[in-house]
Amino acid sequence: MTAVAARTDWRGELALITGGAGFIATNVADRLLRQGARVRLFDNLSRAGVEQNVRWLKAQHGDRVEVVVGDVRDDVAVRDAVRRVSRIFHFAAQVAVTTSLVDPIGDFEINARGTLNLLEALRAMDDRPSLLFTSTNKVYGDLDDLALAALGSRYAPRERTIAQQGIGEDRPLDFHSPYGCSKGAAEQYVLDYARTFQLPATVFRMSCIYGPHQFGTEDQGWVAHFAIQAIKRRPLTLYGDGLQVRDVLFVEDLVDAMLLAHDRIDRTAGEAFNIGGGPRNAVSLLELLDLLADVTGRPPSFDIEPWRAADQRYYVSDVRKFAAATGWRPRVSVREGVQRLVEWLGGVGHAATAPLAVGKVAS
Ligand SMILES: NC(=O)c1ccc[n+]([C@@H]2O[C@H](COP(=O)([O-])OP(=O)(O)OC[C@H]3O[C@@H](n4cnc5c(N)ncnc54)[C@H](O)[C@@H]3O)[C@@H](O)[C@H]2O)c1
Repeated sequence: MTAVAARTDWRGELALITGGAGFIATNVADRLLRQGARVRLFDNLSRAGVEQNVRWLKAQHGDRVEVVVGDVRDDVAVRDAVRRVSRIFHFAAQVAVTTSLVDPIGDFEINARGTLNLLEALRAMDDRPSLLFTSTNKVYGDLDDLALAALGSRYAPRERTIAQQGIGEDRPLDFHSPYGCSKGAAEQYVLDYARTFQLPATVFRMSCIYGPHQFGTEDQGWVAHFAIQAIKRRPLTLYGDGLQVRDVLFVEDLVDAMLLAHDRIDRTAGEAFNIGGGPRNAVSLLELLDLLADVTGRPPSFDIEPWRAADQRYYVSDVRKFAAATGWRPRVSVREGVQRLVEWLGGVGHAATAPLAVGKVAS
């Protein structure tokens, strides 16, 4: 199937992006702004480093970027933020499984209650904007019933259809970790508000997204974290054996999918879609280290630690449902995407440039 391009003219639209200073938000905002929309960024700036993204967007696009420093736990602020918008991208979240294990209530308040605040604000509106919510593959649990074989540098499913197509949306939900529970609860509210209150809302269950503007840490954003460590010649820790496999998706392809989801909301509302790079863009941790060694000329060194809670040995998205609904498919290969990420990070010669000032994910 040939890929269908997302709409390219968003003039006349005002988009609200919660978590608007974050990695994915910055890429969505930049695209929308370049295509004529105005954008309202709503963020409490709790993630270290993200103010840089806001400064960058303002520098690129000036006063078509409105910045609201606010918290999704504050229902009054959320009600204000949705005024006059035509599209909503709800990204604000506590994003790390590790943090959710330390502070499950904080994680719930932001991810589940914060989403409910937004849904209630939308339910009260006469003219309701379309909504995209970003859920996670963690709603399918650790998938430890998948029969896997260790083949060379990666795990491979023994079942041929899963090896060829990935994990589909028909997979039973099995929330693991407080983060899995809070995101899972939130996405179920989104789907139910679409059903019960006819909100034009859709859910992406996303795999690993990577690309420019990502402040990856050990806790979240592993591709960027590995790239940063490789460039800075710092050692990495692999949890497990490094054979675990993920389908990675370059953020530009994700932005295409997100704009298509809004543009075709008549087809996507009330549905959950698995979104990732799919089987063609599946890579193990060890394979990514090899690729980084090739791209940066610096083989990263690493230690091995025991598996972490709720770590999946294999997760690859079956993206055919969204492809059938919209014509989308990922276009950027892992090699090209990693090269572009490394370039953005400052490349081999500029290891100490500003984007590398990474910190812990705040809860
Ligand atoms: N990046 C991935 O690989 C991935 C995978 C699956 C799901 N997701 C989801 O996609 C969304 C965006 O992810 P990202 O990688 O861009 O994360 P990110 O951490 O870069 O962005 C999240 C933003 O939310 C903000 N935020 C946190 N708590 C908030 C609060 N209480 N109120 C307002 N803002 C708050 C942070 O300051 C940050 O700017 C998140 O919901 C995440 O769970 C991401």
